[in-house]
Amino acid sequence: MSNNIKNQFKQFVAPTYGRFPLTLDRGKGSYVWDSNDKKYLDLGGGIAVNCLGHSHPEISQALSEQSSRLIHCSNLYHFEGQSQLAENLSKRIGSGRVFFCNSGAESSEVMIKLARRSKQVEGRFEIITAENSFHGRTMAGISATGQAKVKDGFAPLLQGFSHVPFNNLDAIRSAITPATVAVMIEGVQGESGIHPATAGYLLGLRELCDHHDLLLLWDGVQCGHFRTGSFQSFQTILSDQIGEFLPDAVGMAKSLGGGFPIGAVWISEKHSEVLSAGTHGSTFGGNPLACAVGNKILEIIDRDKLEENASELGKFFLRELKKIQSKYPNIINTIRGIGLMIGIEMNKEIKSFDKKVPTSIQWVSALHEVGLLTIPAGDSIVRFLPPLNLTQNEAQDGLDLFEKTIKKLTS
Ligand SMILES: Cc1ncc(COP(=O)(O)O)c(C=O)c1O
Repeated sequence: MSNNIKNQFKQFVAPTYGRFPLTLDRGKGSYVWDSNDKKYLDLGGGIAVNCLGHSHPEISQALSEQSSRLIHCSNLYHFEGQSQLAENLSKRIGSGRVFFCNSGAESSEVMIKLARRSKQVEGRFEIITAENSFHGRTMAGISATGQAKVKDGFAPLLQGFSHVPFNNLDAIRSAITPATVAVMIEGVQGESGIHPATAGYLLGLRELCDHHDLLLLWDGVQCGHFRTGSFQSFQTILSDQIGEFLPDAVGMAKSLGGGFPIGAVWISEKHSEVLSAGTHGSTFGGNPLACAVGNKILEIIDRDKLEENASELGKFFLRELKKIQSKYPNIINTIRGIGLMIGIEMNKEIKSFDKKVPTSIQWVSALHEVGLLTIPAGDSIVRFLPPLNLTQNEAQDGLDLFEKTIKKLTS
């Protein structure tokens, strides 16, 4: 890593992130190169963002064409790309309308504001979320998030959130009060290491929400956009029972723009007038460049059947990872996965590892050495969140590099 860039970061960039000592220079498809021209297979996908890999030529072209036509025009006006993308997203979820923002945390904000405003006259405002959830880093986002570490030092938080164990209907039932207005969950908890909701939980949750007149808010920021093999993960989890379940709002970001910043919230028709003119807004939300990219990505995913690829490759990864686990049962504790959202819980007892640094970080660093990018989660989990257009050969290369690293660290 160049000392110059390292020093510039140290002196001028706010130290909010723990960064690996890698300087990435360029990418193509599923690969990236660092400033020393070392090549890496990217199974991290920019934390579930680069859904079509790096520098997809059709995305570059869509951006370039849109930028020579209209880069920004403000939400004071209509323009074609935004309404097209709204229709394109809605038709994949259900009858409803879309609010555009710029990030996942902003999509959480929208859902929280939507829920509060919908029942304000009744004096209801409390939202139940899950323990170990993650909903973004804004004040509302950290208040909603069920992890103490993200809240530390930011009191007083936004009031009215309670956190209960995930996949546990009784816990939700006992947390409901006369002031409850909504339940907010991720379909697959991502940041805490890939924990999918069960079908029974989702169906029970819908029933509970209907019974108590609560909004069911769905954070699909990480698990959405075909990552699990369907547009939204509830469609994967429920498959043939999908007719019985629909959230009241779905938050999206990350893969929605494949690397171009965009967020969105689909709001069911029933609640679609709650955020009326003047109640919420965003200067850049649904900007022409972001929408051009969003529409192009959906076109490519449909055309190239990447939904199926995510589902098939997800099964391939699980099968092959289990084979590696059977060879190294003391190194891999558990493997969890749904489509291209895979979490591998690694053993913490590696002789050469520093006890003071989380095991997940040390595994991910060791994988960098052999040319593989992955994403750490929690203390000991390595995540694969690769592009949806990854090939089986690339997946196999990644598995070989993963096994090679295990072999190296355990021999
Ligand atoms: C489930 C979920 N919600 C919200 C967010 C926040 O998204 P952003 O970083 O775009 O604000 C994330 C980010 O990791 C996430 O995984």
